[in-house]
Amino acid sequence: TTITPIPSPPGLPIIGNATQIDPVAQRRSFSELADKYGEVYRLHLPGGRSIVLCNSHRLIDELCDEKRFVKIPNGVLAEIRNGVHDGLFTAKPGEEAWGIAHRVLMPAYVPSHSYNVLFGPLSIRGMFEEMHDVAAQMALKFARYGPSTPIPASDDFTRLALDTLALCSMGFRFNSFYTKEMHPMIEAMGNFLVESGKRPSRVLPSFFYRADDTKYWQDIEVLRNTAQEVLEARKKHPDDRKDLLNAMLSGVDQKTGKHMSDSSIIDNLITFLIAGHETTSGTLSFAFYRLLKNPDTYQKVQKEVDEVIGKGSITVEHLSKLPYITAVLRETLRLDSPISIYGVSSVEDQLLAGRYPVSKDEPCALFLARAHLDPAVWGDDANDFKPERMLDEPFSKLPKNAWKPFGNGARACIGRPFAMQEAILAMAMLFQNFNFVLHDPSYNLAIKQTLTIKPDNFLMRGIIRDGLS
Ligand code: HEM
Repeated sequence: TTITPIPSPPGLPIIGNATQIDPVAQRRSFSELADKYGEVYRLHLPGGRSIVLCNSHRLIDELCDEKRFVKIPNGVLAEIRNGVHDGLFTAKPGEEAWGIAHRVLMPAYVPSHSYNVLFGPLSIRGMFEEMHDVAAQMALKFARYGPSTPIPASDDFTRLALDTLALCSMGFRFNSFYTKEMHPMIEAMGNFLVESGKRPSRVLPSFFYRADDTKYWQDIEVLRNTAQEVLEARKKHPDDRKDLLNAMLSGVDQKTGKHMSDSSIIDNLITFLIAGHETTSGTLSFAFYRLLKNPDTYQKVQKEVDEVIGKGSITVEHLSKLPYITAVLRETLRLDSPISIYGVSSVEDQLLAGRYPVSKDEPCALFLARAHLDPAVWGDDANDFKPERMLDEPFSKLPKNAWKPFGNGARACIGRPFAMQEAILAMAMLFQNFNFVLHDPSYNLAIKQTLTIKPDNFLMRGIIRDGLS
């Protein structure tokens, strides 16, 4: 084989390619560079750092080999780590607290193609009633908007995701559908995430960021204090709720015989909120956008809900009988992965695809926004929204590592079955009760990027369906 240097756009001294990345539209910048440079390119960043962007299925497949590449939290994750330490999402390889938390929580979250195959004391199925409670609050709010008021879909799906997570993980009600002001914890989390996103690209001396830093550490304190209060309250008044907090309090790690420490429980309570809210709400927002732009798929969802559920109340058994909705969510996660990029580091000097040299510890990124469109896997219609290709049968036959919206290997998403159950339920309930239309039929997808991506300014309207409650 011929060794081929990885191409790199021409950059500037010291700051490298930093000016070529739009801080509020990174996905677009990376995509445009992929148009120009193909399946792999390297960006040079300030401070002598670099990152290798991988845009094809065959390269992603290599990055998923955990013997060759490991997840090291850097960039934004290193900033989030200031708040949640060695919690699951931000742990470094080999940290003990990650192992303990992972093994304590994993029985609840057996990752599986079939989201509802769950064992262990803490089944996601057991959380159905509370998920239903919050979803019903959303449906009621949609009904009260009336048929002509635009629904800010992403905002309301974020309320749904946050309230569901807080209720199912720690028995805490944010009541976001009832209050205009956000709960102080949500506000602190929002600020903390935005600031974490900005910190890696600072260019001025630290003096200039003193006020930002003060706020950042205050927000972390609000987050940690709130989680600590919830933890103390539960210890004082134990109950037998089957939620994540009780699982973490009572779980014993089979390998070390240890319990999770209080500080690790707090890290992970906050982590669930951070990792689970924008991702789930983004998925629902994009799903509605795609369905409204593809009326034939919309009709199929409607038909499935009417045939499988009809007019009665939705039960947990219904959720595994909605293959088309499941496929819609998978296809949405392919085209619009809320986490459109995540990183691993090379464990040694090595070649990608047998020809592109990367060096030990160099960060490499799985750029899903492109790899999920690789025609070698998805064909010429890779850019089209076609849920049919994600029905169980074709889905189970996809090439290895072709669909990676939930991450990889040991560091894959622990919340996947939770997110899928919540999203399927929300879609089923909304389709059962409403006909949706785009508020502005000419709206075309615009993307807002923070940690994750979401549709920007996406408004729809919901008209209550005749004869339904
Ligand atoms: C990890 C995606 C929902 C908790 C991840 C990763 C991805 C991801 C891509 C790996 C990140 C990386 O490698 O750096 C998603 C998507 C979701 C979703 C697309 C919704 C559709 C949730 C929910 C929760 C959650 C609801 C909490 C209940 C976590 C945690 C990790 C994680 C704790 C870190 C796991 C570890 O490293 O041990 N998720 N997630 N996620 N997610 Fe999710």
